[in-house]
Amino acid sequence: MRACAFAAAVLLVALSATSTARVNAQGGAPPDASDLAEGRRLFEQKGNCQACHGWSGDGHKTDNQMPDGANLRETKLPRAGLVMTIKCGRLNSQMPAFDKFAYSDGRCYGKTQADLKAYPTRMPDPPATLQPREIDLIVDFLLVRIVGQGPMDHAKCVQFWGGEEDVCRQLP
Ligand code: HEC
Repeated sequence: MRACAFAAAVLLVALSATSTARVNAQGGAPPDASDLAEGRRLFEQKGNCQACHGWSGDGHKTDNQMPDGANLRETKLPRAGLVMTIKCGRLNSQMPAFDKFAYSDGRCYGKTQADLKAYPTRMPDPPATLQPREIDLIVDFLLVRIVGQGPMDHAKCVQFWGGEEDVCRQLP
């Protein structure tokens, strides 16, 4: 009986390790609930990503004066690509660069501010610049709650906000 309980405990530990391992890219601890909540706040407030990408990242922007952002729930970008896109924005598009030094020293696609003038579509200024740590938190949040998660439904919405919110009530 004891051996059986022990085996069950080992199995549980192994299972929880594999379910979180996929987001643990930096070799650091996998994001916990407070990291995810912080990532969501940065996505919503400081980064104002939702203005163009929608609160659930599905591309239904919350501010109709803003450009149409991509559907992040369906992006195929791996972690490194997400980090790069947030830091450097996307050339010739309306996705802003959030790294303070993005086009000052060639760190982004080898380009500087002067090179950007060549593109017909200019990246807008970001609402705020983000520290590398803040970008990692946003990407942790994206990978757990948004990317590849399918359309938002009531259950995911409650988990997303950490409780029953008005926006969740209308969802199936
Ligand atoms: C001013 C509007 C705007 C804001 C603010 C904005 N984005 Fe974007 N984003 C876009 C647009 C437009 C695209 C599509 C670019 C293109 O044409 O490829 C995009 C593309 C992306 C992509 C690439 C998706 C893919 O599959 O290629 C990612 C990732 C992304 N945004 C993340 C973010 C995050 C995270 C934030 C907040 C930190 C943010 N964006 C803020 C407009 C915005």
